[in-house]
Amino acid sequence: MEEVLKFLTDNPTFYIATCSPEGPRVRPFGFIMEDNGKLYMTTNNQKDVFKQLQADPRFELSATSADGGTWIRVRGKVVFDTRKEIAEKAFASAPFFVPMYQSPDNPILEFFYIDDGEATFYSFTEEPRTVKL
Ligand SMILES: Cc1cc2nc3c(=O)[nH]c(=O)nc-3n(C[C@H](O)[C@H](O)[C@H](O)COP(=O)(O)O)c2cc1C
Repeated sequence: MEEVLKFLTDNPTFYIATCSPEGPRVRPFGFIMEDNGKLYMTTNNQKDVFKQLQADPRFELSATSADGGTWIRVRGKVVFDTRKEIAEKAFASAPFFVPMYQSPDNPILEFFYIDDGEATFYSFTEEPRTVKL
């Protein structure tokens, strides 16, 4: 988990794919946080990505290193976590939350963690390596 968090923190734009009735959808995400051994992401419940993850919690995301030599794929299911301490921890860890959402109590703000996931590290020079999340 730590090395996945490090990769996604060092390379902070990742692309997360969801399943929708029209087919796969993908978009850039940036926020990642650890709590109690789980990796958390955020969105808001006005977005299609939220509705898609509620209907089908399976996702896959990918990010590359700045030099393009290594990349990661993470897949699993998401579980939404409405505990206020998660929102408070996120606000404390990333400055963009205040201008974007004002308060951890904002009812459109959502957090979810990866459940039953796996991450695979790739490079042009080594065999892929998969770790469980
Ligand atoms: C660099 C970058 C990081 C982003 N990070 C997030 C994020 O962590 N969570 C989020 O909900 N949207 C984030 N966005 C915005 C989403 O990509 C955007 O709202 C997207 O349209 C959501 O997908 P949807 O249209 O399928 O709902 C980010 C955008 C960029 C450019």
